[in-house]
Parts: sequence; C-alpha cells; structure tokens
Amino acid sequence: MRTRQDFVLFTGAIIILFNACSNGSRTQRLEMSKTEIEEEKYRPGFHFTPEDNWMNDPNGMFYLNGIFHLYFQHHPESNVWGPMHWGHATSEDLLNWQEHSIALFPDDLGAIFSGSAVVDFQNTSGLGSLENPPIVAIYTNHDAEAAEAGSERFQIQGIAYSLDEGYTWTKYKNNPVIQNPGIRDFRDPKVFWMDSQKKWILTLAAGQETQFFSSQNLIEWTFLSSFGKGIGNHKGVWECPDLFELKVNGSDETKWVHLVSINPGGPNGGSATQYFIGDFDGTNFTLDPNFKTDMQNAHHFWADFGKDNYAGVTFSNWKDEKGNPLFLGWMSNWQYATKVPTYKWRSSMTLARTLELFKTANEYKLKSSLYMDSEKVASKKVKIKETAIGEGKIIVDQKEINLASAKIKIDLKNIEENTYTFVLANQDGDALLFGYDHNQKQFFIDRSKSGVVNFSEDFSNKLSLAPRFGMEDELSLEFILDKTSIELFYDDGETVMTEIFFPHKPFETLSLQTNNLTQTVFVGELVELDPKKIQ
Ligand code: FRU
Repeated sequence: MRTRQDFVLFTGAIIILFNACSNGSRTQRLEMSKTEIEEEKYRPGFHFTPEDNWMNDPNGMFYLNGIFHLYFQHHPESNVWGPMHWGHATSEDLLNWQEHSIALFPDDLGAIFSGSAVVDFQNTSGLGSLENPPIVAIYTNHDAEAAEAGSERFQIQGIAYSLDEGYTWTKYKNNPVIQNPGIRDFRDPKVFWMDSQKKWILTLAAGQETQFFSSQNLIEWTFLSSFGKGIGNHKGVWECPDLFELKVNGSDETKWVHLVSINPGGPNGGSATQYFIGDFDGTNFTLDPNFKTDMQNAHHFWADFGKDNYAGVTFSNWKDEKGNPLFLGWMSNWQYATKVPTYKWRSSMTLARTLELFKTANEYKLKSSLYMDSEKVASKKVKIKETAIGEGKIIVDQKEINLASAKIKIDLKNIEENTYTFVLANQDGDALLFGYDHNQKQFFIDRSKSGVVNFSEDFSNKLSLAPRFGMEDELSLEFILDKTSIELFYDDGETVMTEIFFPHKPFETLSLQTNNLTQTVFVGELVELDPKKIQ
C-alpha cells in the first residue's frame, strides 16, 4: 500500500529527475531508482505498463492456448520515444500482465514500428510446420537515416516468425515483403485471414488513406485498393488501421468495420481513433450508404471520445461467443505523452474492450464494453438504493471503497434539463470532474484541477466533450478507475471516454452534483477491485 508520505516525497523526486534528465539517459536511470517507490503511486494496478521506460502503440496482439500476447512500441533505454523495439507481455485475464524479454530489435532495415501478428495455422508461409504453426509478425521497418537524408521511401514492411508461440523471433531473411511505393507515411500493417476468399488481407496506413493488399503466404503481397480520399477526418496522418467483419446485434447481417487512428485531428485534440462502416469484398472497402450520409452531417464516428485511447486494434485469433473481437489501445496522446509526470515508466494501455455493432433507425454504430470478469476480482461491493440527488450527493468515500481501484455503475433516472457532474476529489483540493449536460446532450471531462497538470497546455486547457446519441431520460454509466485513469462507458458503451490524470494523492470521495435542484434519482453499484486475487 502507498502512504500519504509517498505523495509528499514525490514533488522532491520530480526535481531530482528533471536535473538528471539533462545529464543523459544513464544518469537518469540511476536517479530514477531513488524514486521508485514514489513512482509506483501512479502506476496502475491492472492496466499494462512496461516495467521501465517508454511505451506507445499496442502491436502484434494475438491469443493462443489460453494466453493473450501483447507486443508494444518500446524504447528500452529511455522514457521518451526513440528507436522502436517490440516489447512483449502476456496475460491470461488481461488484468495481470507479465513482461518478457524484448521480442524484436531494430535491424539493418531500421527500427521496428507498429504492426500485427497472426497464427499461421496452415503454415501457408512455410516458416513453420503444420504440427508447429508459426506465429508471423508483420511490421514496419522505419529507416531514420534514410528519412533524414530526404528519401520518401524510408518505411517498408517486414516479417518475423516465432516457433515457440511468440516468445522468441527470427526475422525473415528476404525482408522487406512490401516495398515503399514512394509514400512517406506508409506503415502499421494489420493482417487477417479472410476465410471466404481463402487469402490473407493486409491493411496499412498510407499518408491520409489506407491501402489493402492480399497474399496466399504472408510473404508475397499484391496491392488491391486504397480507401479514404475525401472521407472521414483528414486533420492529421492516418495510422494503425484495422479491418474486421462484425455481426449486427440481434440479426444475422454482417458489416465491415475499418478502424483508422489519426494524429492530430481527434475530437478533443491530438490523437484519436475514427471508424468507418461498410462492406469489404476481398478487394475494395466501400462505405455503407447510410454511414456516408451521416458522415456528411457530422463526423461522430470515434471509437473513444476521450483524449487517451490511441492506435488501438483487435487481437488476432480471438472472438467471443457472439463473434465479437477484443480491442485495446494506448492510453495516452501524442500531444503530451512524453511529458506526463511518470519517469521510470511512461504510458499504459487501456483495458481490453469487446466491440459490437448495433443498428439504430438509420445507421450502424460501434459500441464498446469492458472485457473483464469483475466478479472474480471484486474485493468489496456496495449497492446504492434509489437515492434523490437533491442538492448534490456524496456517493462514496474511501472508507467504503478504495476509489483508486474500482468499477462503478450508476443509473440516473428522470434526467432533466440539467448538468450532472460527478466529482472525484481529495483533501488536497484535487478534483476530476466528469458528467453529462442534458441541455447540450453532451458528456464532458474536466481535468483542469485534477492534480499535476502543468506539464502540458494541451492536457487540461479545454473540457473534453462527447455527444450523447440516445435521447432517453435514463442514463446508464459505468466507469473504471485505476489510480491514474478513468474509462467511461455511457449508454452501454455507445459513447466512450478514456482519460488519464495525476492527483497529488488518491481521490477519496465521489459525489454527484447538479446545477439546479432536480427530481432525478440514481441507483448504483460500487465494486472495489483487486485483480491480484486471480494471479
Ligand atoms: C502511432 C505511430 C505509428 C508508428 C508508431 C511509431 O502512434 O506513430 O504510426 O508505427 O507510432 O512508434
């Protein structure tokens, strides 16, 4: 358990670190060990963080024999971005993670940027055998020297394979497998097996578009088509695409979802992930006509409206009983990721989420729900009976539930033309505000007073906003807290907001306030989580 003293000590530690940073990374690491205890106060308990140093995008995620594999963009020598490696971690429950040795190191073709991995069960690549199918990783080699020298062709796609279920890797001897056609940003390949076409499909980001390729063997790739010209958000570079087919909830109809991360250009500034819904025939991705009309009115198609969920994609070889995939993103934003006040480690991943497709009167939409067995990890539960809000209500204080590690579900009934603000606060005066403005039909997060915020203007200078799609006068909200993050799922995951924060000490109370007297009532359930229970 962390104590109050940890938090007081921390400010001093930051000063030491800032001095140390200017002396180069070796000194920095030595100094950091002194502050290890203080550092841990910000390290989440059940979100993945690297033990040391820098992390960005999730890479190569796949599931095999009861184990989820997560690779990640990693700089093992520094707490800021640099020559990228693929770090590696595994988990059986997506809450308790074990980090392994580095999977892929930079090579003669460059650093190892983002990409994906598939289990080649039929050994189509010939890199393993039917008895021992290879795991094949497809990634971008980024040649920083060529980029500096002014070449346009500094990003190419390479592969590596593993014959021990993802723990050790061999680079393919004839890399690259896809040459650069003369596009500066040409990266982040994501591959899947398209059973109806009996071929592998690869999508990658190419400038402000995506491209599709196909292959029989994961080695020889044929260009199929491009997507995205004049469609969707183009305020930044397109990155980390994904493509998968989903059943529409409650029917046998299927549609294809194309995820595309963009930086900058997110709905609340910086990085975010947009999505497109349409059809994929093995060659072209075409937008659904309804989706097209909607998009012209307002571009509301974001997998997450919060500022801290980027570069997320789905796990290979994993679907739930309804056929829905699991998604996980990087819980930060390029606007400030290298400046957040953690030093030993930087950045964590979001929790894994199931993606589903549903249809409203005239459109398809994506919704997300948490994938976790909270019953197994619940260490305490408090139920709230129907309660009138009146002039503001304390819902919980730390004596009942440890708010640093909790899953909270609240349903508001009879909502009125009012603003409903949840306040997470501590006695030091830090407060994280979030909630719903029923006049504007809008959700918001305000982290301007949430603790340490001065490391970047972009962190808290504006409220983060998100639209509400439903009109009902009942609102359900579920959120999960893990020391320095909140993941909010409104209306069963129709609107999602994920953000990080750094309070001087843990939040102790959660209250609900309104700007007018109201008849609204709420019920709720608070679950304190201890994921170590299932280790
Ligand atoms: C997205 C990204 C990817 C790239 C990687 C480099 O955050 O820019 O496009 O492959 O990060 O670390």
